[in-house]
Amino acid sequence: MATLKVRKLKSFPAEISVPGDKSISHRAAMFAGMADGTTVIEGFLPSEDCLCSVKAMQAMGAIVEPLEELEGVGLVKLAITGHGPKLKAPAGPVDCGNSGTTIRLLSGILAGQDFTTEMFGDASLSKRPMKRVADPLRLMGAKVEGQGEKICAPLKVTGGNLQAINYTLPMASAQVKSAILLAGLFAPGKTTVIEPVATRNHTERIMSHFGVKWLRDGNAVSVYGGQVPRATDIIVPGDISSAAFWMVAAAASPGQQITLKNVGLNPTRTGVINVLLRMGAHITHSESSSDGEPRGNVVIKGGELNATVIGGAEIPNVIDELPILAVAGALARGNTLIKDAQELRVKETDRIAAVAENLRRMGVEVIEYDDGMEIIGGAKLQGATISTYHDHRIAMAFAIAGLFAEGETIIEGSECINTSYPGFEHDLDLFLKGDNGAAPIPVLSRVPRPVAGRLRAPLD
Ligand code: S3P
Repeated sequence: MATLKVRKLKSFPAEISVPGDKSISHRAAMFAGMADGTTVIEGFLPSEDCLCSVKAMQAMGAIVEPLEELEGVGLVKLAITGHGPKLKAPAGPVDCGNSGTTIRLLSGILAGQDFTTEMFGDASLSKRPMKRVADPLRLMGAKVEGQGEKICAPLKVTGGNLQAINYTLPMASAQVKSAILLAGLFAPGKTTVIEPVATRNHTERIMSHFGVKWLRDGNAVSVYGGQVPRATDIIVPGDISSAAFWMVAAAASPGQQITLKNVGLNPTRTGVINVLLRMGAHITHSESSSDGEPRGNVVIKGGELNATVIGGAEIPNVIDELPILAVAGALARGNTLIKDAQELRVKETDRIAAVAENLRRMGVEVIEYDDGMEIIGGAKLQGATISTYHDHRIAMAFAIAGLFAEGETIIEGSECINTSYPGFEHDLDLFLKGDNGAAPIPVLSRVPRPVAGRLRAPLD
């Protein structure tokens, strides 16, 4: 088990470029793998989660060619030649690692295939509910078999002659919406998903990018079956969920300023900026758009943070940022309330319990509710030993908390950070090493270099 040791922050980098967006990287790999030609993906996130999606598509007939890697991060540019929407049966069970996005979105694709596939994952993924995708996919005609009442992984999907459905999501979940839309590509007619609360729309945007027609009518999203994604190169922006850690570090540091470069600014993901603005942070951003996903530089100036209430329709927009926003709440004046966030209980770990437990270890008073928590702000944070429960966002949120604590904070099980942010520890070091005798932090090249020999060999 790896540990990460964090002390009070000593310096402040002027800028950070975070790695590619996780949600978009998964979708880019899947659509490229189902497309009719070769797609070059630039800015790809080579995290363990996204590599599971790439390897799954590779196992089902897509040809993957690594093109460029970035020092300290990994493979950031690759070409995927699709097998077309009708994939090849994989030789064995597909490993989805820790990734809910891989297993749920892939379930939708597999529902449209003429073979049976088994998917499995790590201990955390094997506890997460897959019933939410099994229910609609069964309605469409696929056979989905899993473990117990929650239909957990290992999950076996047998594709069938699908029929289009109209389905109202029982919970706000972009993964479930996406699984149904992906299955809808294989069902004759119009498949419609109604989402009571808007969730991230990366699947809709990437469908447009790959020439797949879909429509939105109010809170209903529909797709027509029988369409073949057209291979189209794509540039993935930086992940705002990864940028969020540095946003909070800067927002809570009066007199400091940081520029986060090339961050994805899709409005279904920018809730974290709105919450921090409400808390009193000074944030500005420039915006450009390409490949259907807005992106830009975000500048944050630190100040005194004030408590806020986070709830309602805003929750899906900040769902992955709630652990670090809870840390922001602990650093703010007043009591911050997070409500309507029961979905946090079924993430990589129960994030309400994990955040409350670890904040308490650092000396913060927290009242836990079924659907959120109240954080009593303003306490002086104390260094502590943090249990990550193998959850990358818990590990990173508390590494940031450690920057504001007296004494040492030890993040136990920090290897899980690679799930979404390879290179996080290097970026964190930029805050930890001052000029009082510490070794200089190696400057990593920000210019990707070609993968030696342009290996056509499959990823292993
Ligand atoms: C994701 C959707 C969200 C989010 C996850 C990524 C996606 O999950 O928490 O990290 O890429 O669609 P839910 O659909 O379970 O809310």
